[in-house]
Amino acid sequence: MVKIKNLIMKYGNSTVIKNINLNINKNSTCAIIGPSGCGKSTLLYGIAGILKPFSGEILINNFPVKENRKKTGLILQNYGLLPWKTVWNNVSLGLTIRGYHKKDIQYNVDKVLRELDVYDLKDRYPIELSGGQRQRIAIARALTISPDLLLMDEPFSSLDAISRENLQNLILKIHKENNITLILVTHNIEEAVFLGQTIVIMGQKFGEIKNIINNPYFGDEELRYKSDYYKICMEVRQLMRKDEIK
Ligand SMILES: Nc1ncnc2c1ncn2[C@@H]1O[C@H](COP(=O)(O)OP(=O)(O)OP(=O)(O)O)[C@@H](O)[C@H]1O
Ligand SMILES: [Mg+2]
Repeated sequence: MVKIKNLIMKYGNSTVIKNINLNINKNSTCAIIGPSGCGKSTLLYGIAGILKPFSGEILINNFPVKENRKKTGLILQNYGLLPWKTVWNNVSLGLTIRGYHKKDIQYNVDKVLRELDVYDLKDRYPIELSGGQRQRIAIARALTISPDLLLMDEPFSSLDAISRENLQNLILKIHKENNITLILVTHNIEEAVFLGQTIVIMGQKFGEIKNIINNPYFGDEELRYKSDYYKICMEVRQLMRKDEIK
């Protein structure tokens, strides 16, 4: 579904993504992991069409990526909620921007808020929510457009361990029930192994893919209680450390 070919991305003169090639299949999930500053968000913004490649290509379903693709849902590192809008108005934003009819917006927003169990929060402002609730609202907003591709940038980094696991479970469920292709950026190894069918390890130095691991245990909701989970976590940890020592 997503094909990245010889991708180079720059901010001014500084190269942040150095010749990346990556294929992500339809209905699969991919976790991108790497140290702070290695270019994970930049790569995700490229896939979202927010930042343009310096050279190379990013194709989605064989078309060059464009901004505001109708079926791409994006959840940003800081949730991206507008403080002056209520929860309901924040969640409706994706549909409003894409020009949906008022009646469809009303129906879809109410439906998704109920599904994520946050309907009761609809009239609050972001400042009146906990971190976990804000995160659910950001997920709700991304889901209203019925995405076939969901991009998430460090979605759960500010949450406690249990809230984090609950939201990871929710994302796994959403992926399974809706056949959404999921690309998740994280610096958390356990999260990458729980949510990544493919785990892409980026290097210490800018913008390079060091390893790609296929995770045969992906999709098992009980994975955290099994030793195989920790085996893969250890493998990822060793590969990340090896890169650090070089
Ligand atoms: N708008 C910008 N202008 C110039 N340089 C930038 C800009 N945004 C990011 N960078 C630089 O590009 C590099 C990659 O940044 P990026 O945000 O993609 O990293 P990251 O892997 O997402 O890091 P983190 O895990 O901390 O979120 C960093 O060195 C960063 O300082
Ligand atoms: Mg980032």
